[in-house]
Amino acid sequence: MKNLKISGYGKALPKRIVTNDDLKKFVDTNDEWIVQRTGIKKRRIGDEGASYLATDAAKMALEDARLKPDDIDLIICSTVTADQMTPSVACMVQKNLGISDIDVTAFDLNSACTGFIFALKTAAALLNSFHKRALVIGAETVSRITDFTDRSTCILFGDAAGAVILEKAENNKEMYFYTNCKGDDRWLNLKGFKSNVDMNNKTVESGFTRMKGDEVFKFALRANDDAIKQVLEQADISISDIDLIVPHQANLRIIEGIAKRTNLPIEKFFINLSEYGNTSSASVAVALCEAHENGLYKEGDRVLLLGFGGGLSWGSILIEF
Ligand code: UT7
Repeated sequence: MKNLKISGYGKALPKRIVTNDDLKKFVDTNDEWIVQRTGIKKRRIGDEGASYLATDAAKMALEDARLKPDDIDLIICSTVTADQMTPSVACMVQKNLGISDIDVTAFDLNSACTGFIFALKTAAALLNSFHKRALVIGAETVSRITDFTDRSTCILFGDAAGAVILEKAENNKEMYFYTNCKGDDRWLNLKGFKSNVDMNNKTVESGFTRMKGDEVFKFALRANDDAIKQVLEQADISISDIDLIVPHQANLRIIEGIAKRTNLPIEKFFINLSEYGNTSSASVAVALCEAHENGLYKEGDRVLLLGFGGGLSWGSILIEF
């Protein structure tokens, strides 16, 4: 899709830092195992809801783009951890920013860790039809759906939000989008939340994320292979034409696996998972914001975003800056 640009970047992270050693209070684990198997050293865990983090990230993106809240007419927030079923996080961001409620579309989207990729694609489509300027947010409080007695998952996740402003621009630059999914709840799921059963006000209680890590690991490598191939084919370029890859920050070994399979040096990948762990759909949004803050790409560069996760879902976006 032509004539779109990212004009602002934002992120929000809870203040509380939880190290690998801190997790020893909850489960039988150690820093060496976690670093070796995942690359994660710490994560942020807060008591703020997703809409609080999302609002902070959105404010930063607006400031970065030198825009006023009313310049926005579309808000899409990807999340699996909304503070409430309704109103959506996106609607709470609209309220918190004081955006006029005239012809604004605001909604949440759930595609687990691939959510930010799905949200950017959806925003691009709506900018091509109804809207002029979008706030696209990934906001997650993954700690709320994490079982802190399960050492195979609780060491992985953290809380965060990232945001960008995506808008129309007469710049003739291309963005290529690829998304895919297949309903498969065997290896990664969160089943059972408080809900009515047989209309008798009997409720089933909340569950936590369950994952068969080795199967998700294998899926992740296959999904990234496909996501890279599809978007390169659309753009009719080769992997060596990519200047920077911003992958989902799930596990350093997965990113190293992608580097090996694509024959790219690891330096071409932006990696911040040692600091934040896997923040689900906030991961690519925060990573893109930090890659921008660090000046890792410039006008004329091609940046590839990669996501994968529950659904199972996966996708990629190639952006010409
Ligand atoms: O964004 C969502 C997508 N999710 C992912 O991308 C996750 C993909 N999967 C992974 O990242 C990896 O599979 C994990 C990091 C989750 C696990 O790494 P692994 O190399 O697949 O380890 P494993 O599950 O095969 O476990 C190896 C051993 C086991 O012990 P035994 O059976 O060999 O005695 C586990 O019980 O490590 C043990 N183990 C731990 N030991 C210390 C599992 N978790 C821990 C732990 N600390 N936290």
